[in-house]
Amino acid sequence: MKIFVLGSGGWGMALAINLHKNGHNVTMWTFFEEECKKLQTERKNEKLLPGVIIPDDIYITTSMEGAKDAELVVLAVPSFAVATTAENLAKVLPEGIPVINVGKGLDAKHGYCRFSETIKKAMNNKNPVVALTGPTHAEEVSRGIPTAIVAASESRNAAELTQDVFMNDTFRVYTSPDIVGAELGGAFKNIIALGAGISDGLGLGDNSKAAFMTRGLTEIARLGVKLGARQDTFAGLSGVGDLIVTCCSMHSRNRRAGILIGQGKSAKEAMDEVGAVVEGYYATEAGYQLAKKMGVEMPIVEAMYHVLYEGGNARDAIGKLMGRAKTHESEEVWITK
Ligand SMILES: NC(=O)c1ccc[n+]([C@@H]2O[C@H](COP(=O)([O-])OP(=O)(O)OC[C@H]3O[C@@H](n4cnc5c(N)ncnc54)[C@H](O)[C@@H]3O)[C@@H](O)[C@H]2O)c1
Repeated sequence: MKIFVLGSGGWGMALAINLHKNGHNVTMWTFFEEECKKLQTERKNEKLLPGVIIPDDIYITTSMEGAKDAELVVLAVPSFAVATTAENLAKVLPEGIPVINVGKGLDAKHGYCRFSETIKKAMNNKNPVVALTGPTHAEEVSRGIPTAIVAASESRNAAELTQDVFMNDTFRVYTSPDIVGAELGGAFKNIIALGAGISDGLGLGDNSKAAFMTRGLTEIARLGVKLGARQDTFAGLSGVGDLIVTCCSMHSRNRRAGILIGQGKSAKEAMDEVGAVVEGYYATEAGYQLAKKMGVEMPIVEAMYHVLYEGGNARDAIGKLMGRAKTHESEEVWITK
């Protein structure tokens, strides 16, 4: 199958290599002319995927023309570039060709809508959209280390096509109709990963981090359900699966940025030191604004916003979270006998 992958960061490269492994005819589009030339000649990016070679027959280009005869498109650009890239893609992509988005975040330019909504709108509702998301660090996938992921879409055909095209012995793909839950889980887990990193940077314990992750997921699911997601999706690969890997792995930029903040750096200093897009920073603003708009209680997201955007002290924020009024664990009220 002819597949056009937009984005040549770690994830774009890892997915292009995985699709090539499955025998597909892959073109990889890159945004920067210089990055393109370097990838064409060196066939690797040592900084993003050390030791990983891009096969010679993956064609690398800065032109979107190749999307004209693609049978499937993968959008693997940073969250801030999803809307613009989708708008440019819409100028060349024929109707009906599925677009698989793997970027995680929300569209700040369009009222924090989900990326599938942004992409569908850019395509005039003429192309099915799939969110492919789960616990998948590019550094591991590009080396063929086994994992599982979910292809979520309103279109069963598009989700099953994605499953067929990507799945192999090291990359197991499940399908789901709940694209709302899958996208929100992927976007918001980065907020919790930043916080989990802060917990590590402050030198708190494993218990602290586990409690933070669990309560973080509870409030993500609370907002998600209000926005139309299914509760059980948050217990799946795009929810708790992605949350675990992002909060516990040193491959996670969000966690690494959080560790630096916990050690006393400002949010800006931490992001500069990580040197790559820290999606959780933007997701925190999105989560904070959406929670306010929807009237959903999200104390952890509020605390993260205070630390990242208002210069709040992380240890004080944890003290405040621990000192909140007593409450029950799940949303249901007690059944009194
Ligand atoms: N890296 C991973 O392991 C991983 C895994 C799953 C999902 N994701 C998601 O996939 C998306 C891409 O992540 P990544 O790590 O591959 O890349 P990244 O976030 O590191 O971005 C780097 C690449 O983005 C491209 N880029 C920069 N500015 C651009 C612009 N204005 N327009 C279009 N492209 C531009 C460049 O080609 C550059 O190589 C992100 O949303 C991320 O959350 C990443």
